[in-house]
Amino acid sequence: MAHLHNVVAIVGSLRKESFTLKIAKALAKLAPDNLKLDVVTLHDISFFNQDLEATPPADWVAFREKLHKSNGVLFVTPEYNRSIPGVLKNAIDVGSRPYGKSSFLGKPTGIVSNSPGPLGGVSAAKHLQNILPGISGPILGQPEIYLNGVGDAFDDKGELIKESLQAVLKQYIDAYAAFVEKFSK
Ligand code: FNR
Repeated sequence: MAHLHNVVAIVGSLRKESFTLKIAKALAKLAPDNLKLDVVTLHDISFFNQDLEATPPADWVAFREKLHKSNGVLFVTPEYNRSIPGVLKNAIDVGSRPYGKSSFLGKPTGIVSNSPGPLGGVSAAKHLQNILPGISGPILGQPEIYLNGVGDAFDDKGELIKESLQAVLKQYIDAYAAFVEKFSK
């Protein structure tokens, strides 16, 4: 029987009506039975400051512990100025420390970018692929997923109503679940 894998889905936007958050929640709903997504927003992660490393703030410790306990990490991000939002970079910096003891190490990693625009946040996703390899686990390379035109994908209640998007999300989360399963043996 397949094991249940607990994955932290990190949302790169703080916006209340964030499409990124809605996509993360949709992925959680579409996940197969062996994958449970814990959708995490970054409102409570304080700024990384190397002066605080000896006595890290409680929010850093809690975030790192959550990552340590997980069986995988899924980044769901919008694109800000052709890169990832600052809050997401900050959280990655927090999770990556202390040096050599990154909380992301060994965790099967997925990257999902999105945009209401035509390019699907592809630059943000590519930047994550540059940032992560030294501090993360294996990164799922295929299928790639850069979701464009997400602005009309949800109804007033935040439910996913765009069938083409639903199909792509389902395909991705199934592939990611298989990837996590493979690296958890
Ligand atoms: C954006 N947006 C944006 N979109 C894009 O496709 N490429 C980009 O480089 C940028 N740059 C950018 C910078 C800043 C500072 C903001 C605030 C926005 C638009 C962005 O995709 C849009 O606001 C999304 O709705 C943000 O994601 P959430 O909050 O809906 O998850």
